[in-house]
Amino acid sequence: MADTDMSSEQKIQPPPADFRSPEQEQVEKGVGVAPADELGIEDINPLNANLFAEDRYHRYFERLRNEDPIHFNEIETAGRYWSVTQADDIKAVEGDWQTFSSASGITLGVPTEARSGAGAQTSSFIAMDPPMQRAQRKTVTPAVQPKNLQNVEPLIRERTIDVLESLPEGETFDWVETVSIELTTRMLATLFDFPFEDRRKLARWSDIVFAIPEPGGVIESHQQRHDELVECVHYFSGLWEQRREAPGNDLVSMLVHGEATKDMSATDHLGNLLLLIVGGNDTTRNTMTGSVYGLNTFPEQYDKLSRSLTNSQYGL
Ligand code: HEM
Repeated sequence: MADTDMSSEQKIQPPPADFRSPEQEQVEKGVGVAPADELGIEDINPLNANLFAEDRYHRYFERLRNEDPIHFNEIETAGRYWSVTQADDIKAVEGDWQTFSSASGITLGVPTEARSGAGAQTSSFIAMDPPMQRAQRKTVTPAVQPKNLQNVEPLIRERTIDVLESLPEGETFDWVETVSIELTTRMLATLFDFPFEDRRKLARWSDIVFAIPEPGGVIESHQQRHDELVECVHYFSGLWEQRREAPGNDLVSMLVHGEATKDMSATDHLGNLLLLIVGGNDTTRNTMTGSVYGLNTFPEQYDKLSRSLTNSQYGL
């Protein structure tokens, strides 16, 4: 039986007070970094959140793709790492787990030998190799199989129409907040059969997982992330108990009862839940946001899409 009781929070240790993540190091060191064209190729480092905040990353990646598609960097907190920036190489790496294992993690993190000093790590099946990764993933794939998606299609349409119909007309509003986050959290709550009124918690937990601690940021410290994730475990442990007794057709029930996942510790359950929350949240929210932004920036693409929709079953 999975160990999901409240005492499990003991196992989710915060990192030590002086812990500094690779992203923090780069945010600090990456301030005011020169335009890509003024740097030698060896000084180009794409791991710099400032480049993304300032919308300056494109030229960095362009130079990497053109001049050094398999690029080496080394920083204090993460050690050595490679940036692979051409599609064929990315596909080759993705398809060869024997050489490019995911089992030591999939984010640029603390070097393996220093992990124990960085606090307890949660694990999830995206950070595993076959056969375990396949066995755990199989547990949740029924949720996204075509048959299930067909079943939820009417609900997705109803909610999309509901959100779009309620938008203010003739005034400025925040598309990300009102449409992308709202629709995403409604659908995630459905996939998890998560209490609907608390659905924004899912977006919050997703946001804090990879947030870089900084004053006035999404989180201000590693401790704050830890405390909020312990809250997340508490919340989900209630749902685990409920679904253990009365399973439904939702992701929590699938994990609690799946052969490959039912005996997991609370930390590992949390890892897989966060994988599904982050995987389902950031991607869809950003697609809804980025596509509207893209269609605005490139009106000829908007016209092309309108024309093809006019001629399709979804006639505009
Ligand atoms: C626009 C929508 C989405 C995009 C573009 C997207 C993209 C991706 C990509 C590229 C990967 C592979 C990452 C890797 O290299 O290992 C991935 C994996 C994954 N995604 Fe998505 N995703 C989307 C929606 C979702 C949703 C809605 C969910 C769940 C509710 C989800 C859950 C996952 C999970 C669990 C994995 C890990 C699979 C494994 O390692 O076996 N994704 N996604």
